[in-house]
Amino acid sequence: MTTHKYDPQFTQAVINATGPKATPRIRQITASLIQHLHDFTRENDITIDEWMAGLELMNEAGRMSDDRRNEGQLVCDVFGLETLVDEITYKLASDAKDEPTATAILGPFYRHEAPQLNMGDCIVSGIESTDRTWMHGTVTDFLSGKPIEGAVLDVWHTAPNGLYEQQDPNQPDMNLRGRFTTGKDGKYNFYCLRPVPYPIPYDGPAGKILQALDRHPYRPAHIHFLIKAPGYKPIVTQIFDRQSKYLEDDAVFAVKDSLIVDFVPYQGDPQAEFELHYNFKMATFEDAKKHSVAGTTTESATSLGSKI
Ligand SMILES: [Fe+2]
Repeated sequence: MTTHKYDPQFTQAVINATGPKATPRIRQITASLIQHLHDFTRENDITIDEWMAGLELMNEAGRMSDDRRNEGQLVCDVFGLETLVDEITYKLASDAKDEPTATAILGPFYRHEAPQLNMGDCIVSGIESTDRTWMHGTVTDFLSGKPIEGAVLDVWHTAPNGLYEQQDPNQPDMNLRGRFTTGKDGKYNFYCLRPVPYPIPYDGPAGKILQALDRHPYRPAHIHFLIKAPGYKPIVTQIFDRQSKYLEDDAVFAVKDSLIVDFVPYQGDPQAEFELHYNFKMATFEDAKKHSVAGTTTESATSLGSKI
C-alpha cells in the first residue's frame, strides 16, 4: 500500500527528461514550472474536464489575438502576472537616495511608431471635450537631478468613450498618441485629455475569468508612457487621476501611490481646462544595475502590446 495519493516519482521523472543541451536558465525555469504545475494539479485534484476547460481558454485567447489585440497578455493582466513581472524586473533597492519613476505595466494597447510631434502639440483629433489638459514637466536623472536631453516620451490614452483608437473605427489612426523629444532643458509639454476609467475588453477569455471570479473589468483613468533616453533604462509607466474610480480595485492591479496625480483646473489657456504637472526620473543602465534585481532592454520593454 502506498502512502502517496499519486506516484511520487512522476514529477521528477518529467523534469529529468530535459536533455544536456538545454541552457541553464531554461533548465531552471522549466523544472520549476513543471514542479508547480504538477503540485497545483495534485493539490486541487484537477480533472480532465477542468484541464480541458483551461486549455480551451488558452486556445481561445490565442485565436482572438492578432496585431490589434493581445488576449493572452490581458489574461495575464487580470491574474496580476504582468504587474508582478514588472515589479520583479524593475525593483530598486530601498536604500537608493531617490528613486526613479515607478513603473507600471505596458498593457496590450501600446502601438509602435506613434507620430513624432513638437513640444506644445496636441495629441487629440476630432474630439470635442471640456477635459482638455496641458501636461508638462521635466525628465531628469534620478541621482544627479540633471535634465536629460533627447528623452523620447511616447504617450497614449483612451478617448472619452473609453476606447483606444485601434479599438474604435470612428477615431483617426494614431489618435491620442504621440512621441515628444526633450531638448537640453529636459522639459516636455503637450496637450491631451483628462482620461476616463474604461473596461478592459471582456468579450474573451479574460472577461470569462473576471466573470467567474465575480470581478469587474474596469481600470482607473490613466495615461500611458514609455520613456527612452540614450544611456538610460526605459521607463514603462502609467499615471493615474486621483479623482478616478477604481484606484483601489484596478482590474489589472497596476496602481502605485507615486503614480497618482492631480489634474488642476487651469485658466487663461484657450486650449486647456486642466493642468497636469509631472516629472519623470530615469536611471542610467549602470545605476539601474547597481540598484535593481534585474534589467531590461528597450526591445523587451516594448515587445508586447499591439504591433500595428
Ligand atoms: Fe490603458
